[in-house]
Amino acid sequence: MSPVHVVALGGSLLRPEEADARSMWMGQLRQLMVHLEGNERRIALVVGGGLPAREGIALAKNTVSDAHRLDEIGIAGTRLNATVLQQVLLDIGCDVAPSVPHTIEQARLLLDQHHIVVMGGTVPGHTTDTVAVKLAAVVHARHCIIATNVSHVYTKDPRHHDDAEALTEMTLGELGAIVGVGTPLEPGASAVVDPVAVKVAMDAGLDLAVLDGRDIRLLDDALDGQPFDGTIIHARGD
Ligand code: UTP
Repeated sequence: MSPVHVVALGGSLLRPEEADARSMWMGQLRQLMVHLEGNERRIALVVGGGLPAREGIALAKNTVSDAHRLDEIGIAGTRLNATVLQQVLLDIGCDVAPSVPHTIEQARLLLDQHHIVVMGGTVPGHTTDTVAVKLAAVVHARHCIIATNVSHVYTKDPRHHDDAEALTEMTLGELGAIVGVGTPLEPGASAVVDPVAVKVAMDAGLDLAVLDGRDIRLLDDALDGQPFDGTIIHARGD
């Protein structure tokens, strides 16, 4: 069987409020998937919840106190976005799994039968970054690509610090020092990489690649094993 690639696609990449720009992006993503499928590559896209997740959580937040219940709302948002991409890819005849798996195990089995699997979240307590890292570990992917809406991991949050520096290469330990290790984010909260995913990657000894998913060429380069503009995060420092 050909190797599997796993990509966490941040929900912010599917912003419905930018529908025109998004349709061009979806067209490019479709082309890339057709190309990969043509080369007999298998790929799992793990899609974040973006606006539907945030809006759903905001709607319930003042009434629902249990974080896991809010997480369930977030998960529903991720599955909505996953369904959008699944249907976009099915529409041009890609070999996409006909269901959006709800577990890592279901995803693993579907990857044995289809070139492409699109999924969202699984269970409360983490984000889709963690789902992608867990799946990448289970299918022995070379690394897990985290395609988000920033160009790199920065030394500090670039939205609040002018002196934040972009990092091109680092270790999981260094990433953990910036975002934390293993402590779940609040429902709907965001970090460049989910701290729970950092812990899972450390335990699995899995490298990560963070890049700006708005530029499909970067994703293409990273999937191809080429140098790409973004941050490579090594599981080990040596
Ligand atoms: P996301 O994966 O979308 O989180 O999950 P994110 O970091 O905000 O990613 P972007 O911005 O969309 O890229 C949204 C929410 O859904 C719940 C959590 O509450 C999370 O904050 N969720 C998601 C889970 O509880 N479990 C999952 O497996 C996935």
